[in-house]
Amino acid sequence: MYTLKTLFFTLILLYHQSVLAAADLVPRDITGCQVQNDPNTPSFILIASCLAPDGSMKESTLDFSKQCLGNTNGVLTCGNVGLGSTCGGLFFEAGTSIVQGVCKAKNQSLVNSNLDLNNCVQNNAGILGCKT
Ligand SMILES: *[C@@H]1O[C@H](CO)[C@@H](O)[C@H](O)[C@H]1NC(C)=O
Repeated sequence: MYTLKTLFFTLILLYHQSVLAAADLVPRDITGCQVQNDPNTPSFILIASCLAPDGSMKESTLDFSKQCLGNTNGVLTCGNVGLGSTCGGLFFEAGTSIVQGVCKAKNQSLVNSNLDLNNCVQNNAGILGCKT
């Protein structure tokens, strides 16, 4: 009886984890916001409409050359310094929170990386802000 119970709970757990894994694959936008950038035009500036407390969607921008992101040896990371001119323009896509970019490593080689903006950016009552 003990082993049957254990098996049952193990199966439940496995099922639960596969559901969670599947959910992770569904593209998600920045929480509470909709990315508005043209996916084919690289830019340092994120444009998004975010849900405000009055229920309306407000458009605001963040300039990642100056804030919220950083370049750690060629890899996009969260950080308040901004990318400066160490990375090329970033690619944003509506419906996802993933940003892609090419940045210079310490040895001057170019490295491609991506980052989940939900780790670095948040909706502050309808206005995009850096997560601190
Ligand atoms: C330069 O640094 C990057 C990041 O550490 C590394 O992936 C790459 O292989 C290095 N390139 C050379 C030519 O050393």
